[in-house]
Amino acid sequence: MNIIDIIEKKRDKMELSKEEIEYFINKYTNDEIKDYQASALVMAIFLNGMTEKETTDLTLAMANSGEVLDLSALNGIIVDKHSTGGVGDKVSIILLPLVSSLGVKVAKMSGRGLGFTGGTVDKLQSIPGYKTEIEMEQFIKNVEQIGISMISQTLNLAPADKKLYALRDSISCVESIPLIASSIMSKKIASGADKIVLDVTVGKGAFMQDIENARKLADMMIKIGRLANKQTTCILTNMNEPLGYSIGNSLEIIEAVQFLKGNMSEDLKQVVLKLGSYMIKLAGLGNNLEENENKMIENIKNGKAYEKFKQLVEKQGGNIAYIDKIENMRKANFIEPVYSINRGYIQEIDSKEIGKLASYLGAGRETKEDKIEHEVGIVLNKKVADKVEVNDILAYIHANSEEKLNCAKKRLLEIIKTSLEPIQKEQIILEIINGD
Ligand code: URA
Repeated sequence: MNIIDIIEKKRDKMELSKEEIEYFINKYTNDEIKDYQASALVMAIFLNGMTEKETTDLTLAMANSGEVLDLSALNGIIVDKHSTGGVGDKVSIILLPLVSSLGVKVAKMSGRGLGFTGGTVDKLQSIPGYKTEIEMEQFIKNVEQIGISMISQTLNLAPADKKLYALRDSISCVESIPLIASSIMSKKIASGADKIVLDVTVGKGAFMQDIENARKLADMMIKIGRLANKQTTCILTNMNEPLGYSIGNSLEIIEAVQFLKGNMSEDLKQVVLKLGSYMIKLAGLGNNLEENENKMIENIKNGKAYEKFKQLVEKQGGNIAYIDKIENMRKANFIEPVYSINRGYIQEIDSKEIGKLASYLGAGRETKEDKIEHEVGIVLNKKVADKVEVNDILAYIHANSEEKLNCAKKRLLEIIKTSLEPIQKEQIILEIINGD
């Protein structure tokens, strides 16, 4: 067997065997296959797709490319959560401490930003001192002691995904159902969760642009979950405009803290409560979804969710003085408003374009080696369907250079579209697909 024959087979639209997929994953993980050959194969998969069998074989090969965590020492059902990616998506940072405050055990491994989407790890790292890379024993100990740990995909879990994730990002091969399904499910299988809740984002700022493809991705991940004996629920959510108001790493931490203190934007609240109600149900802590939502609201009101977040930050080495006094988080050199030049109603805030703009400001990476500027980004002051007058503030730009500030101000006025006619707010929770 050799990689050239495997590339040729996929290039010519043939089905790869389990052995061929395993050969590629093992050799690539061990650096015995070069990035240029892996790129060719990934591009062929991107263009020609994979059958269900190939996707499942790829997922299992990736899951088994490193250690597979055994979390059975932790009493209780471990329910994991993952998003297929979005803009302004700070859901994990809010949701996981929230459900943890209600007794759901959380052992979460998150990713970095990919393409125009942000990553939870980059956001957590904007909290001074927060360590996202800790030893496995410490990770499990933290969950035992306080019920939650949130780290990066370190250790030796699904290393094949780690390499392929970065490769896909650098060769524009992210938006593929078999590649996303295998990437997410391999991590979930390797990280030892019993059950999984997936936020499958749909729309302009998501990798799935329409509901049909989002359904296909959800169905594929549910099938893989079933095969791996991990009950999976997919919640399809709208990602046409950014979620919440802030886009950028520390800016999203600030919004997450405000949310946990009760200041909740409507779209973010709907996503958090819906995903959370299913996490609580799958953890066996409440079958009534509406009651689960009420319990979460209660724990926001009584401060327990916020306390759990602080406990998490402290346990991971973070300085909670920054959380208590969130205004002390490091600020960008320039923070300036962008004023509306039109009146009417906000018609569109294309989240992909906003994600790209935030990345240009320094909130994301263009290459793997780029350093993130945690404090930069965009804070919206209006959302789609809001009324707007000339000279109303549309958003604030947080930038570290004057040149980027000015470019971003101009670009934002092009991205945020207004209409004279009233605009209907779009539905946020689009569909729920339950596995068994
Ligand atoms: N999130 C992942 O973990 N992998 C993908 O491919 C896309 C989103």
